[in-house]
Amino acid sequence: MLELYQYELSDIWSQDLDANGTYGYDLSRHRQGKRFHAYMALDDGRFAGFALVAPAGVTREGGCWMEQFFVLKKHWRTGVGTALALHVLRSHPGQWEVGQMPANRPAQAFWRKVIGQLTGGQFVEVEVTQGWWLGVVQQFNVQSVATQEIPRNRRDG
Ligand SMILES: CC(C)(COP(=O)(O)OP(=O)(O)OC[C@H]1O[C@@H](n2cnc3c(N)ncnc32)[C@H](O)[C@@H]1OP(=O)(O)O)[C@@H](O)C(=O)NCCC(=O)NCCS
Repeated sequence: MLELYQYELSDIWSQDLDANGTYGYDLSRHRQGKRFHAYMALDDGRFAGFALVAPAGVTREGGCWMEQFFVLKKHWRTGVGTALALHVLRSHPGQWEVGQMPANRPAQAFWRKVIGQLTGGQFVEVEVTQGWWLGVVQQFNVQSVATQEIPRNRRDG
């Protein structure tokens, strides 16, 4: 799915294929680091999306950074993204930063809605114009809750 994700965003995130014909996302930090996490979203047992979580470091130190986030096109606008995002965010209570590339307007709309709902609008948005990552970042705090299974309230019932 990482390959599909990188291709999906290739019009705004310029990358080239390697000699094997793949983008080859570097997961070495995830294989080694304790504060790196990967989540898969399943819909009736079939892959529907994924999220990668890393330590914060773009606009703040401490807490989590949503490194990558993707829902397969088949599932767009069905609530999969919201369900996955809420599950991942609630799995790591505390400080968060979530970023979107400047041209990724759909993702900005998605994250503003999800984070706004989760925090009751208690988030700060900053624009990062210098450094290794550039774009729009929402900073917020996730309260600790017991909920682990997030119902999808906009599907077939
Ligand atoms: C952004 C993305 C994760 C959204 O996933 P999704 O499963 O479609 O999200 P949801 O169905 O939970 O959408 C929740 C809300 O987000 C907003 N939203 C989602 N996609 C949107 C779009 N293309 N344009 C505008 N708003 C959008 C809407 O308010 C939506 O609610 P609605 O459907 O009732 O109007 C998905 O489109 C995706 O994977 N895109 C490609 C990769 C990407 O951009 N990842 C994010 C990197 S930061």
